[in-house]
Amino acid sequence: MSVTVRVPAKVNVQLAVGAPRPDGFHDLANVFLAVGLYDEVTVTPADALTVTCSGPDAAQVPLDTGNLAARAAIALAERHGITPDVHIHISKDIPVAGGMAGGSADAAAALVACDALWATGATRDELLAICAELGSDVPFSLVGGAALGIGRGEQLTAIDVGGTFHWVFAVADGGLSTPAVYGEFDRLTAGTDVPAPEASPALLDALHTGSTDVLAKALSNDLQPAALSLRPSLADTLAAGTGAGALAALVSGSGPTTAFLAADAEAARRIADTLRASGTCRTARVAVSPAPGATIV
Ligand code: C5P
Repeated sequence: MSVTVRVPAKVNVQLAVGAPRPDGFHDLANVFLAVGLYDEVTVTPADALTVTCSGPDAAQVPLDTGNLAARAAIALAERHGITPDVHIHISKDIPVAGGMAGGSADAAAALVACDALWATGATRDELLAICAELGSDVPFSLVGGAALGIGRGEQLTAIDVGGTFHWVFAVADGGLSTPAVYGEFDRLTAGTDVPAPEASPALLDALHTGSTDVLAKALSNDLQPAALSLRPSLADTLAAGTGAGALAALVSGSGPTTAFLAADAEAARRIADTLRASGTCRTARVAVSPAPGATIV
């Protein structure tokens, strides 16, 4: 018997970053929006814990216990006195190390899949607590939709979304390390007064009403200057998408994937075509949001 879970990518429509905390993390006002690019994680009983991965970027995915999906299985098994003898297969479509929470998505999916396979009877709150231990973005991958994350980003409040948003994602060559981008944020803001992060009322309103035009004006990412500092060529990608008619452009999370908001599905296809031909990215993908969280298929 196997269990397969489908799990979405995310874009941060607002990522407000505070000063570094004593534990090294940063307080955030992190507005997550799940987007319809999905990984699928299948767990099957096996003699030992093993991980395999398929998809165009599979070679970049670790297959040992450094894989967050394996760590999720181990964490759940430990709590329930189970041996985590499962084969985890990740069918990967979310860009790797791209700022779209692909690794976090796989962890949330593996957790939901193992929970079903082992019939642990864990509550949703217990699963969310394990997610938060695994990483700041993992709880959101479980719940999907849209949510404001405070603290490290793991303390979630769901946001109702009143419409559909059309996105284009330009996938860069190679990834960016999230700790390195936060480190660059600290370097760029050293000696300045970094304000406490707060969710933007205009942005939350845009999500509630489903207004693409208002959302376009309210998008923001405090990590963008740091990502651009580490990867200056991303400025060319952002300019190419804006030139192709995107209503707004920003770096997705810690990057290097860049996100472009489009007026409708047709505009998104056009912008993606232009980006693919621009030579400023490896490929471009269209996707809509919001998308559901980790779901058994
Ligand atoms: O929580 P997660 O393991 O995904 O975080 C990866 C890294 O990103 C952390 O080690 C830290 O460097 C940085 N980070 C941070 N503040 C946050 C979330 C992540 O500094 N709120």
